[in-house]
Amino acid sequence: MAVILVTGGAGYIGSHACKALAAAGHTPVTYDNLRNGWRDAVQFGPLEEGDLLDTERLIEVMKEHKPEAVMHFAALIEVGVSVSEPDAFWRNNVSGTLSLLDAMVATGVRKIVFSSTCAVNGDQDGVMLDESSGFAPASPYAASKFAVEHMLHDYGVAFGIRHLAFRYFNVAGADDQARIGEHHRPETHLIPLILDAIEGKREALSVFGQDYPTRDGTCVRDYVHVEDLADAHIKGLAYLDKDTRVPVLTLGTGEGFTVREVMQAAAEATGKPVPAFDAPRRAGDPASLVCGSKLAAQELGWTPDRSNLKRMIEDAYRWHQQGHYDA
Ligand SMILES: NC(=O)c1ccc[n+]([C@@H]2O[C@H](COP(=O)([O-])OP(=O)(O)OC[C@H]3O[C@@H](n4cnc5c(N)ncnc54)[C@H](O)[C@@H]3O)[C@@H](O)[C@H]2O)c1
Repeated sequence: MAVILVTGGAGYIGSHACKALAAAGHTPVTYDNLRNGWRDAVQFGPLEEGDLLDTERLIEVMKEHKPEAVMHFAALIEVGVSVSEPDAFWRNNVSGTLSLLDAMVATGVRKIVFSSTCAVNGDQDGVMLDESSGFAPASPYAASKFAVEHMLHDYGVAFGIRHLAFRYFNVAGADDQARIGEHHRPETHLIPLILDAIEGKREALSVFGQDYPTRDGTCVRDYVHVEDLADAHIKGLAYLDKDTRVPVLTLGTGEGFTVREVMQAAAEATGKPVPAFDAPRRAGDPASLVCGSKLAAQELGWTPDRSNLKRMIEDAYRWHQQGHYDA
């Protein structure tokens, strides 16, 4: 069993990866600056506070804990903010990862699983995306992830860093015991926004655009359960030991849901109506974003078994009602 350094382990997906690592007998060491994460979310191993850009601190932590591998979740993630603050995204996500990789080279850590995004593919007109899809990153956020994929390739060639990048879209759900869950700051993700609107914690939900060429005119998105995603990362770690590997895998269900379908499922799961109003389309919102996982099934034996909409919303709702972070 191994020590794994989890950057961004105090965030939504990273904390669930830590849970899965601990359940698999590993020791997850969270490295997080707590800018957007939560001390309370770090429940399955030690927390080392630090910034990705602080290479010396990373080296110190790696020397102390001697991780076998890194799971790299730490990033700024808000697409809209990335358009107005590209400098912050390139610095944090790209320079930050450069710093991380340099620390790995300096300390002999040679394996990394990276959280990329299907946003590197941009809007492909409703086609189901996979690893062979073309590239058209449409925001500084997506471009920063694409740049890191290239960086991983180059560090692999030059320094023997074994790497695997996962591309995915929307992550949803929570720990089945509601110990950890989704709490972004600010929250912009659909399911927590719907649950907040249902509970009166924020104003009614804005449904952006009703005239898209989809089943009911609202946008279609692919949702993966956060615990399925965490499992993919565990499988990804073992995969890095194989001699023949692919560098990128997409993780999706291949099935999308419209905004109205998600609202309907939330109303059924909670027994409460979703207060909502129609708003104009948002610039840059594609009609449909869906990706498959055929290659991930083949290479990792991964299938998104928990990723049905009802279950994701029920798990998210349980967390929403019972769980919270104070710090
Ligand atoms: N949430 C999604 O639906 C989704 C979809 C596709 C890809 N991703 C990717 O998955 C990863 C995790 O997303 P999330 O939803 O858990 O986000 P999150 O904001 O909850 O977690 C990110 C964590 O990284 C930390 N962090 C950010 N910059 C840092 C830095 N410079 N140094 C140290 N720590 C830093 C934050 O404090 C936070 O705890 C991100 O890389 C994101 O791009 C997320």
